[in-house]
Amino acid sequence: MLTSIKENNFGGDKSRELGMMYFRVAIILFGAQLLMGLIAATQFLYPSFLFELFDFSVARMVHINALVVWMLYAMIGSVYYMLPDETGRETVAIGLGKLAFWVLTAAVTVVVLVYIFIQTGPGKESTIWLINEGREYLEAPRWADIGIVVVVLIFYFNVFATYIKGTRTGIMTVMVANLLALAGLYVAGMFYTDNITMDQYWWWWVIHLWVEATWEVFVGTLAAYALIKIIGAKREIVEMWLWIEVLMLFGSGILGLGHHYFWIGTPEYWWEIGALFSALEPVPLIAMFVHVLYDWGKEQGHADATGSGHAINNGPAMAWIVTNAFGNFLGAGIWGFFHTLPQVNIYTHGTQFTSAHGHLSFFGAYATILIGMMYLGLQGAYGIKNMKATKLSKWALFMITFGVLGMGIALTISGYEQVLVERAELGATWEAFFTAQNLTWMVQGLAWRLVMGVVTFLGFVFLVLDLLTIGKDAKLREKI
Ligand code: HEM
Ligand code: HEM
Ligand SMILES: [Fe+2]
Repeated sequence: MLTSIKENNFGGDKSRELGMMYFRVAIILFGAQLLMGLIAATQFLYPSFLFELFDFSVARMVHINALVVWMLYAMIGSVYYMLPDETGRETVAIGLGKLAFWVLTAAVTVVVLVYIFIQTGPGKESTIWLINEGREYLEAPRWADIGIVVVVLIFYFNVFATYIKGTRTGIMTVMVANLLALAGLYVAGMFYTDNITMDQYWWWWVIHLWVEATWEVFVGTLAAYALIKIIGAKREIVEMWLWIEVLMLFGSGILGLGHHYFWIGTPEYWWEIGALFSALEPVPLIAMFVHVLYDWGKEQGHADATGSGHAINNGPAMAWIVTNAFGNFLGAGIWGFFHTLPQVNIYTHGTQFTSAHGHLSFFGAYATILIGMMYLGLQGAYGIKNMKATKLSKWALFMITFGVLGMGIALTISGYEQVLVERAELGATWEAFFTAQNLTWMVQGLAWRLVMGVVTFLGFVFLVLDLLTIGKDAKLREKI
């Protein structure tokens, strides 16, 4: 992946080159995310680890902010990658796009350095502007927020103008409309109010309406595009699925927002709205699952366009996309459904159960398909007809997936104990929290989370090694 840009000029396709630049930063931030997770997980077990040198609050914050940012990078990368392909023309303002990339990357670097080195001290008006805005997952200070809006406007201009001038496929139509909503929602997380209920009310517009509406539609478009590329799926069929999913995701996802309005001081009618609509959310996820597996199964075994007799022309990308179909359904659909009814959520709210769901869903629904897109990018970069999975790609996929699943199960066990003892038995008091934190099942669950975190990290090392070598090796093999 490192040499992919220099050595291959993508047949002069600058948009794809820019896409790969975004992928590279994404994978670096993914690594940073995992390292921070390992530090935070160690601190759960040994609270004095790096105490006052690198606090849990900072490790946790960088862990989840890096998560969101690497995913946004990989998303932008994927769009720049597929744009010329889908629209049939070069991206309009590629120079401006590159400038935006460098500005964004410089800003992200400064923000991360400030997160790591300057997070303690008095909270003043200037703190929101320069140090930390204080909203979980979106803690970037306000100057960076404004910078991000400008960069995203440039990105959106590029996508929109290219779309208008080029061929307007169904996939791109959904993409263009959805990106506007996705980018626009970010602004909801920028208001300032000192009323915590109002603050949370708007904050969830970004987090929930991203991950359960606009991001889901986004990965739907990626899956549609990737299935056409990898297995030669019929455009009419994938686009039909895509429209159905858009309809269903927006149907349940938007009002499903109510499952975050149970206990923050918003009116009680949100209980019913949240319960009903969020309980429907797994339905579109089943549709997405069926969609991928149906297309995959249907095309398997047929000769592809090159006549090689092999239906899948990118093994690792396809494997990650199939993992995405399972992972999205499991992490978001099943683990989400578990705690989405207010009758259950009153006990599970903010426990390790939530963390189990957070890990399984972000990984299953997003990390997987975005890694798949990176493999698709490499295939394009090196101009490889049939990119086969290597040992490294298989180990990476297995260890990362096994690791995250293991973390999810460990946290679910801890969460179960927490719900039973802290919430149900002892009535959610301050002492109850500490009693539950020290029970064997809780501590063992947290220990297994760390072990499985290490497995995940090793898998990540394999992934990086594979991304660095697979393209070059496959190209050499095809030449022979
Ligand atoms: C890919 C999609 C999804 C992602 C990435 C995701 C991620 C998350 C994360 C990270 C949290 C914790 C937020 C915090 O820090 O407080 C959360 C909370 C929650 N999610 Fe999801 N989620 C997804 C889909 C779903 C679905 C489909 C459902 C329901 C069917 C659901 C139900 C919930 C509920 C009820 C909570 C609140 C938990 C609590 O009260 O502690 N999620 N989600
Ligand atoms: C090396 C592997 C990892 C380790 C050791 C790890 C560890 C942690 C720890 C200790 C926390 C803080 C939990 C808390 O405050 O109770 C956390 C939060 C979180 N992590 Fe990870 N993590 C890892 C990988 C991942 C991956 C791969 C993802 C998603 C793709 C992810 C997504 C999240 C999310 C969404 C939260 C916030 C959860 C919430 O608010 O409930 N992590 N992680
Ligand atoms: Fe939600």
